[in-house]
Amino acid sequence: MPRITFHSHSCFEIVGAGKRLLVDPFFSGNPLAQVGPGDFGKLDAILVTHGHGDHIGDTEAIARATGARIISVYEIAGYFEAKGLNAHPMHIGGGREFPFGHLQWTIAHHGSTGPGGEALGNPAGFVLTIDGKKIYHAGDTGLFLDMQLIGSHYGPLDLALLPIGDNFTMGIRDAVKACEFLKPALTVPMHYNTFPPIEVDPQDFARQAEAAGHATRVLEVGESLEL
Ligand code: NI
Ligand code: MN
Repeated sequence: MPRITFHSHSCFEIVGAGKRLLVDPFFSGNPLAQVGPGDFGKLDAILVTHGHGDHIGDTEAIARATGARIISVYEIAGYFEAKGLNAHPMHIGGGREFPFGHLQWTIAHHGSTGPGGEALGNPAGFVLTIDGKKIYHAGDTGLFLDMQLIGSHYGPLDLALLPIGDNFTMGIRDAVKACEFLKPALTVPMHYNTFPPIEVDPQDFARQAEAAGHATRVLEVGESLEL
């Protein structure tokens, strides 16, 4: 069973299939972070959903320190390859098997400019199948009806990681609707309270989602769950 640890914002550590992955590792400049880029001794892969600084984050430093392979959309993989790092390019609609499991990239409605203004392609989300469990990380996105397709075609989903912070992404009301579209067994909210523009109460999301019949779990920073 995979173990998922919330490191604040959109960063999750996923351990399963004897491997350890990080998603959107944003620690430097993140007031909620309780770990740093030097805290990951053995790491197999870093998955990056899009180019914004709060998602690319500390990817470069962590990849250099651990040798972890960066897996992302083509433009972001190329951005890191140009820095001499080991990256595997994929893109929306593409999926493949890795030693840790199957990775399927999905759409997200957002931007993807790099930290230095680089054009880093389209933002994305993904469905990761690991130890037989299916985990959807939405990346940064607004609500979209194709979430029905993600839930039915790439699911059934054991876990959905959904932004709720509003302003830049879905807010609470739209994230509850996303639960209806995706039909995950469990939803964990992300991308909230890191900065003033995305301050929301995750318990409001939990209450509204539960009232609509969707199981949720709000993770404290550093807290883990097992699927
Ligand atoms: Ni973003
Ligand atoms: Mn973001």
